[in-house]
Amino acid sequence: MTLIQQQDAEYIASTYSRFPVTFVSGEGATLTDESGSKYIDMGSGIAVNSFGYGDQEWVAAVAQQAATLPHVSNLYYTTPQVKLAKELCTRTGMKKVFFGNSGAEANECAIKVARKYAADKHGENVKPVIITLENSFHGRTLATLAATGQDVFHHTFGPFPQGFRHVPAGDAAALQTALEAGDVCGLLIETVQGEGGVNCLTPEYIKAAYDLCNQNDILLMIDEVQTGNGRTGKLFSYQNFGIMPDVVTTAKGLAGGLPMGACLMGVKVQDTMTPSSHGSTFGGNPVCAAAALSVITRMTDDFLLEVTQKGEYILSQLGGAQGVLSISGSGLMLGIETTKNAGELVRALLHRGVVTLTAKNKLRLLPPLSISWVELEIACNIIKEELAK
Ligand SMILES: Cc1ncc(COP(=O)(O)O)c(C=O)c1O
Repeated sequence: MTLIQQQDAEYIASTYSRFPVTFVSGEGATLTDESGSKYIDMGSGIAVNSFGYGDQEWVAAVAQQAATLPHVSNLYYTTPQVKLAKELCTRTGMKKVFFGNSGAEANECAIKVARKYAADKHGENVKPVIITLENSFHGRTLATLAATGQDVFHHTFGPFPQGFRHVPAGDAAALQTALEAGDVCGLLIETVQGEGGVNCLTPEYIKAAYDLCNQNDILLMIDEVQTGNGRTGKLFSYQNFGIMPDVVTTAKGLAGGLPMGACLMGVKVQDTMTPSSHGSTFGGNPVCAAAALSVITRMTDDFLLEVTQKGEYILSQLGGAQGVLSISGSGLMLGIETTKNAGELVRALLHRGVVTLTAKNKLRLLPPLSISWVELEIACNIIKEELAK
């Protein structure tokens, strides 16, 4: 254990099982640890560092905003926040944005939007229920834990907020049945369940869910915390399916390495949130907003096409490789089922200088979207070698 690792154990709450590596810097998609060893990053801080490390445009945007105006209260207007909201709305067709600081907060906002939309229309507590899918993950606040469709998260910290119903993912008939009680205001889904094992919902199910929500005046809310911001080869993954959600939540890659979450509201709910109905001290902070603007404005069609091509390249390299049983996911969000224990594989790869993740029993790859073709090739070769051992 190094000194930093000893002091971490002494002073940091032990909520994380850390790997024995202390990263000190990065360049492109390559990280350097305190001993100077290099690692190709195929995890990007769990889908956060969209443009990797040392990206000049991002660094300049952050430094310039930090030097000019790092923070003022949301009692006042700030330019980066408005520019970012306009960019997000223009690129999605959504109408309004609420900014928070994380994915969980973005989902908290979505939960409030759905409940208020229904309360305004039908009265308080008439339709408070939000449906989510089994195996989903929506965050670690008490409400988003309750929303998360995995029993493992429903212990110890109760009582949890009420009003969440979980249905099997991909089962449109079960969704229809769950709506029949007449008490539902919203459906919150991930198009690809990241933490749940990189499981894709089918286009047919997503379309069926969209139709059911429209027919029953239930808000379709897409949790794009992990899938958003270019990760699947579209700015937001729902754009792969020809649907228009009522609410989109996002975070992670949005500000490319700074904490920012956003809840995007569509035409139906654009006036739902009223003064004092919600707020956040840091939400839409100028530095984070400037960072996000530098990320989102560079996600052009060409850039997003390359994300898709890089995902296809990984599939071409690892699909059918020795030890690979199946690959799921979309764009640069991939889950690889292998003959090896996923945790042990991640450790072995870290030892070989490739940073990866797990998702349930799978090896999960979430590289920076800007990863170079050379870095990608080297990482794929090392993964193949480790799988063949
Ligand atoms: C789909 C999804 N929603 C919500 C969250 C929670 O995000 P945060 O950790 O930023 O609160 C995550 C985090 O992994 C996620 O993957």
